Amino acid sequence: MHSATQRNNGDLFIDQVALSTIAKQFGTPCYVYSKKAIEQNFIAYKNALSDQPHLICYAVKSNSNIAVLQTLAALGAGFDIVSVGELERVLLAGGNPANVVFSGLAKTSFEMRRALQVGIHCFNVESESELALLNETAAELSLQAPVSMRVNPDVDANTHPYISTGLKEDKFGIAFDTAIDVYKQASQMSNINLIGIDCHIGSQLTEIQPFVDATERLLVMVDQLSELGIQLNHIDIGGGLGVRYHDEQVLTVDALMKELLPLFSERSELLVLEPGRSMTANAGILLTQVQYLKSNDHKNFAVVDAAMNDMLRPSLYGAWMDIQPITTNNTPERQYDVVGPVCESGDFLGKDRKLSIAEGDYLCLFGAGAYGFVMSSNYNSRPRVAEIMVADNEAHVVRARENFEDLIKGEQGLPVK
Ligand code: LLP
Repeated sequence: MHSATQRNNGDLFIDQVALSTIAKQFGTPCYVYSKKAIEQNFIAYKNALSDQPHLICYAVKSNSNIAVLQTLAALGAGFDIVSVGELERVLLAGGNPANVVFSGLAKTSFEMRRALQVGIHCFNVESESELALLNETAAELSLQAPVSMRVNPDVDANTHPYISTGLKEDKFGIAFDTAIDVYKQASQMSNINLIGIDCHIGSQLTEIQPFVDATERLLVMVDQLSELGIQLNHIDIGGGLGVRYHDEQVLTVDALMKELLPLFSERSELLVLEPGRSMTANAGILLTQVQYLKSNDHKNFAVVDAAMNDMLRPSLYGAWMDIQPITTNNTPERQYDVVGPVCESGDFLGKDRKLSIAEGDYLCLFGAGAYGFVMSSNYNSRPRVAEIMVADNEAHVVRARENFEDLIKGEQGLPVK
């Protein structure tokens, strides 16, 4: 089920707060997160890893709201970042830079400089050119850059092609066959300190085997490197654990670790993980209101106030996300396409959903805590929506709804002649 929400007498609650109260108090659309659910998800990882030396680096890209980062930093989480913007957010939220890994295939020297200065745990390097630039940048600062190579293990994650990252045709990582040579090259560089190896084969994985295959390939390489005199301290197997949006057979972190931890039992390296979605998806929802109901001889449409610019996943990936009224009622059930106000037929949140709804009703889109607000835009000059976090059964605005001034910030038109 959806971990952050439950129904009570037909009304949907997030923790102990009714979504109807939040809708009336803060307006719609808005994202609502449960602090408690995020904490529970992190603790599930901690418990599953138990005695294994580990570092859980939350993938900031899945939800980078500062309140979310604060919640995780307070529990001692590390962070996986992909830009200097994400690094600044982590620092602002009180995250420890020594527990930050920097992923991404196009780091600039400006980004490297800042990350070196604050002393991150390591750079996950994705190419020889990036390695050369990092060595140069570190030399300019008279610092050593801690490095892990992101290798591409060529393992099929069996997920949506847009979020599969560990195959030869994907742009990510260093090809498995050449990685040893890149390590050898790196070991000769004066400002590179080789400390780890990493991979990330994809997102929304629902099978254990691809994780096991990728990890085994990494471990073989770690041993080969050790024979060459290159000793690594950590093995980072990325993120990717899937969550239940619909009727997916979902992997639990316990089930995954039961298969993975035995591979580490005779080893001394630190196990690093980069979970995003499994930490935040089911800790958040998107709240929206039905504006209009309309029908033709073919379809019924529920036109809601949230659109693809607020939640892109259904439009971009054809992702199925559950949609339910926040208050159950006796309106006759009909089949609807739930669509937004944006001027594109690709603007939908759900298709062919059986719903008992009337105009003015509020709907909840579940599993929206990950890759929701972070992927939103101002398309159609729509201000980005508010983000609310429920903490200790109280709702707080953790990002204010944008207004027109926010929309045109930095725009000044042409000079008047
Ligand atoms: N580490 C790296 C290097 C990644 O690229 C990603 C996600 C993660 C960790 C976290 O993966 P997770 O545990 O969240 O699966 N926008 C898409 C998902 C894109 C994932 C990109 N990389 C969606 O809405 O499904």
